[in-house]
Amino acid sequence: MKGPFLTLLLASSFSATTAYNLVRDYSGQNFFSGWNFYGNYDNLTSGDVIFVNQTNATADHLAYVNSAGHAIIKVDNTTNVPYNYKRNSVRIETQDYFPVGSVWIIDLLHLPYGCSVWPAFWTSGQTWPQQGEIDIIEGVNLMTYNQMALHTTAGCTKTTPADQTGTSTQVDCSTGQGCTVAETKPNSFGAAFAQAGGGVWATQFESSGIYIWFWSRANVPASINASSNSVDPSTWGNPSAAYPSTSCSMAQFFGAQQLIVDITLCGDWAGLNSTYHATCNPNGICYNDNVMGPGSPTYDNAYFEIDYIRAYATGAASTGIIGPTPSTSSSSTKSGSAPGTTSTSVGVHFRPSMFALGCLLFSFLLFL
Ligand SMILES: *[C@@H]1O[C@H](CO)[C@@H](O)[C@H](O)[C@H]1NC(C)=O
Ligand SMILES: *[C@@H]1O[C@H](CO)[C@@H](O)[C@H](O)[C@H]1NC(C)=O
Ligand SMILES: *[C@@H]1O[C@H](CO)[C@@H](O)[C@H](O)[C@H]1NC(C)=O
Ligand SMILES: *[C@@H]1O[C@H](CO)[C@@H](O)[C@H](O)[C@H]1NC(C)=O
Ligand SMILES: *[C@@H]1O[C@H](CO)[C@@H](O)[C@H](O)[C@H]1NC(C)=O
Ligand SMILES: *[C@@H]1O[C@H](CO)[C@@H](O)[C@H](O)[C@H]1NC(C)=O
Repeated sequence: MKGPFLTLLLASSFSATTAYNLVRDYSGQNFFSGWNFYGNYDNLTSGDVIFVNQTNATADHLAYVNSAGHAIIKVDNTTNVPYNYKRNSVRIETQDYFPVGSVWIIDLLHLPYGCSVWPAFWTSGQTWPQQGEIDIIEGVNLMTYNQMALHTTAGCTKTTPADQTGTSTQVDCSTGQGCTVAETKPNSFGAAFAQAGGGVWATQFESSGIYIWFWSRANVPASINASSNSVDPSTWGNPSAAYPSTSCSMAQFFGAQQLIVDITLCGDWAGLNSTYHATCNPNGICYNDNVMGPGSPTYDNAYFEIDYIRAYATGAASTGIIGPTPSTSSSSTKSGSAPGTTSTSVGVHFRPSMFALGCLLFSFLLFL
């Protein structure tokens, strides 16, 4: 009995009843506190953008809270960009890193879309790829569905439990676009997402694995709402993507994760001819067709409208959040050691290691 029972427990462990309590709330007028703005050109995915700092993002209305109290994060659509210049956009990351035992929920009204547009809501560990990456919302150009993925070092693979509703498309989490899952529910990306009133993603980051749920507006569970101080994934039904730890140990491949929202243009995925030609212009060049020139109407839909992003935690994770380390350089610039190369691969959001060894040790100890 012990063997099968254990297997059953593992197979369905994402649905074990556990309450996760609210630990961070990014919403309303305070949405942008607790995030760092990148303040550099896109040297991570070769996109044709400058991720402006907070001063410029605020002054140019690329990051602000609208009259409905929703956070807007957008590509500049008011500047006529000359040939060979980049367009302004935004990339923000939480100062906090959330450990295993966390749930993140994002409620949005609108996702960026359009030819050349490559938005993502994702997470990354303090060192990449050693501490892993979770891509929760990601798509390019005129794709009609969301693609989820993990990126890790070699040895983490994706197995697909029967109750995953999405389609597993690549199983090796260490190569190419990572271990990917295509959303099969309608209205998960593009114009259709907004027309349906937006929707909600919930991600459970547990020792048993990583699970991602998506609901279009009409189907969001009533227990996930603006006043949920506690959530229980066991009540959410089958996830869109499931990455059981049986084929990818969380302790081995993932550290505490920071949340990241960004929009790049063209670059290693959206700008690849094979990708760009598929949904945009079969004879076109991503940069020439879109980035250069007036910006409107090309980028009028290249914005996130976010009601809230919330982090929940259970057990030790509640006190295991790794906050910002005191910086030795100015707060708006990245410090730390840059690797010698800028090699990137398709769909990978490479970011450099940047935190002190003490931080690493601390997160490591948490998982022992
Ligand atoms: C923000 O970026 C602009 C343009 O690069 C620069 O002039 C300014 O000094 C930066 N501000 C801060 C606070 O880093
Ligand atoms: C950033 O803001 C500064 C100060 O307003 C301005 O001089 C500069 O042109 C802006 N840079 C960009 C790239 O928008
Ligand atoms: C909001 O969610 C909480 C649980 O997270 C639930 O107790 C409450 O009834 C929900 N409110 C509404 C209006 O559905
Ligand atoms: C991409 O496609 C365009 C249009 O067909 C072509 O002019 C360009 O040379 C291609 N670029 C590469 C790198 O293949
Ligand atoms: C830029 O896009 C916004 C919507 O995101 C739109 O309201 C605005 O009119 C556009 N700006 C220009 C100059 O067209
Ligand atoms: C990207 O730019 C930032 C800021 O200048 C720098 O700290 C980082 O090392 C660069 N990363 C890569 C991969 O070049």
